[in-house]
This record gives sequence, C-alpha cells and structure tokens, in this order.
Amino acid sequence: MRTLYLQPAVTLAAALIAMPLAAAQDKRVDYQAELPKSPGVGESGYHVPPPHGDYPKGPFGEAVKRGEALFTDTQTNAGEYVGNGLNCANCHVDAGRLANSAPLWAAWVAYPAYRKKNDHVNSMEERIRGCFTYSMNAKGSKVGHAPEPGTPLLTDMEAYMYWLAKGAPTGEKLPGRGYPKLDKPPKPYSPERGAKVYADNCAICHGDTGQGRHTADGKGYVFPPLWGKDSFNWGAGMHRVNTAAAFIKANMPLGKPESLSLQDAWDVAAFVNHHDRPSDPREKGDLADTDAKFHKHQCYYGDKADGKVLGTGTGN
Ligand code: HEC
Ligand code: HEC
Repeated sequence: MRTLYLQPAVTLAAALIAMPLAAAQDKRVDYQAELPKSPGVGESGYHVPPPHGDYPKGPFGEAVKRGEALFTDTQTNAGEYVGNGLNCANCHVDAGRLANSAPLWAAWVAYPAYRKKNDHVNSMEERIRGCFTYSMNAKGSKVGHAPEPGTPLLTDMEAYMYWLAKGAPTGEKLPGRGYPKLDKPPKPYSPERGAKVYADNCAICHGDTGQGRHTADGKGYVFPPLWGKDSFNWGAGMHRVNTAAAFIKANMPLGKPESLSLQDAWDVAAFVNHHDRPSDPREKGDLADTDAKFHKHQCYYGDKADGKVLGTGTGN
C-alpha cells in the first residue's frame, strides 16, 4: 500500500487488505487500452503525478499543500461548507491520484467544459463548487452553500490539481479519467439481490445500515457513510445507479478493485442508492417537478422504499 495515501486510521485498516495497489492498477489498464496514450505516462498506461510530498518551493508550493489538505481532510479544512460526513478523497481515492477513481489530474486538463447538468460551459472553479453543493451537501453546512467564487480555498484546490497534472496534455481525454464506463448487467439490476452483495462485501466497513464507521473520537469517519443524513445528497453524481456501479466495480471493496462481478456491482449500487439521503438542493417543495426536471436517469428519486417516497430527505 506504499503508494496509497489515506488518513492514518484508514491506512491501518487498509493495510490489512492483501491486494497491493500496483497489481490493482495493472488490472485496470485493459479497460482503457484503446484510448490514445498521452506523453508522460508511466508503465501503468496512466499519467503519473509528481511523488507524494514533493511539493514545489515557495508560496505556490504552500498553496498546493493546502489544496491537498482541503481535498483529503475537507471536514477539518473546509468544514464550514460541508453538510455531511464526507471528504472529497472518499470518492476520488488516494488523494485524487488514483486512475479510474475520477483522478484530479485528468479533470484538470479537461476544463473549461460544457456540462449537460447545468447546460453551460463550466470553469474548474464551478465544477469544484458543484461537488461541494451535491457530493458534500453544502446546504446542510454552517455557511449553507458552496464557497463563493473567488474564495481562496478554491484557488488552493486548483493549485493542487494543476500540480498533479504536471506534464499531462491539455484538452485530451486521458486514460483513467472518471470512472470506467460499465457494460449493462446481464439481468436488470436489483436492490433486493444487492442487499446480499452488500452484507457479504461491504457491511464490514460501511456498517449494516450504511452509516459508516466513526473515528475513535466520534467526530469523523474512518469508513464513510453510503446513505442517510451524513452521506452525499440526491443531486450528487453518485446517486445514479450507473455512476455508483462504475465507481464500486473499479474501487470497492477497498483494496480489492475489480473483484465483484458486473452483475454484483450493479446490484449493490442499486441497493446503496435505494435508500434516502439528504434532499436535492434544487428541490423547492415540489418533488415530482424536481424528478421530472433533473432525474431522468438511472436512479430511485421519487420511487418508494419502505413505504416512504425517496428524495424527501433525512432532515438536512
Ligand atoms: C475494507 C473496508 C471497505 C470495504 C469492505 C468497502 N469499502 Fe467502500 N470505502 C471504504 C473507504 C475507506 C472509502 C473511502 C476511500 C478513501 O477515503 O480513500 C470507501 C468509499 C466508498 C464509497 C464512496 C464514498 C461514500 O461514502 O459514498 C462508496 C459508494 C463505497 N465505498 C461503496 C462500497 C461498496 C458498495 C462496498 C462493497 C462492495 C464497499 N464500499 C466495501 C472502505 C471500504
Ligand atoms: C460522494 C462522492 C464524491 C465526493 C465526496 C466528491 N466527489 Fe467529485 N465527483 C464525484 C463523481 C461521481 C464525479 C463524476 C465522475 C464521473 O462521472 O466519471 C465527480 C467529479 C468531480 C470532478 C470532475 C472530474 C472530471 O474528470 O471531470 C471534480 C473536479 C471533482 N469531482 C472535485 C471534487 C471536490 C473538490 C470534492 C470535495 C469538495 C469532491 N469532488 C467530492 C463524486 C464525488
């Protein structure tokens, strides 16, 4: 696990897992084999960011360092904008370095970009603010919204991303960007079957009821919550069954990427997302309208689970 940077408590748990990251990375190369290689790629076929801790000197290096800390420990360093129990690096694994885990180096060279989600060309700053709004549920935070444009911590995060992307070509879709697109499952995905996959492969870390596991002081999480009030909200990309399935197949169980079958990855993603979580911040009192406008994709928003309409939220 040499190359995997995680918070200390997680490192301990992760160290118990046998599969070395290097081997895991090798397995993933196949996925992207047909994409053009960029100059400066390592043997893995993916862009290699500068080594951990090898920061540039001077004020810029300080900004990079702060950006990394914001990204890995968002709770401590940008907690006023976070309304759940997550850190950015929970879904962008290895401090945003890991290929196929939406790595930051691949994102950096791809913006500004048009996004269907908001129907205009987004700057990187806006993209980051979007992850605060949805993945980090900013509306439930002390401030109540994502950092305003121009807030210095956004510049620090961009400095970190820019540094990770050193040598990568701008404007190319780099191998390893985002989460690898999955084939359709052999059978339609099913939360019922997914419940068993979850119990067998995930509950040990994420808890029987998806609530995650707290650190010893109870303030943060060693294993992040997958649903409920401390997880991402109904507007986050991860609430889509296809996006969660792709992330899970390539990254979970932690330390055993690519170990689930295609069917199991889809089923467990369906199970995880067939639970309530903080409401969609775009919803202004009319769930059916929000459903029609923003949820025409693979998700359970507006469906019923345990007699309750999903999307009505968890109180924050
Ligand atoms: C060995 C412990 C472990 C196991 C087992 C495990 N995870 Fe995770 N999971 C983690 C950790 C730790 C993170 C955060 C990664 C980080 O910060 O580097 C995470 C992150 C996630 C995330 C993104 C963050 C969030 O809270 O939504 C999802 C989704 C997820 N896991 C789903 C699953 C599913 C589904 C399974 C079972 C197939 C699973 N995990 C098995 C430890 C584990
Ligand atoms: C709950 C999981 C989750 C958390 C937490 C999270 N993100 Fe993301 N992020 C995603 C998903 C999903 C995508 C879309 C990836 C895809 O579709 O391939 C994404 C995409 C991105 C992208 C664009 C990637 C690209 O290649 O276009 C950036 C930049 C980003 N996130 C930054 C952040 C920052 C900064 C934070 C913390 C403030 C954060 N994310 C927290 C899930 C998360």
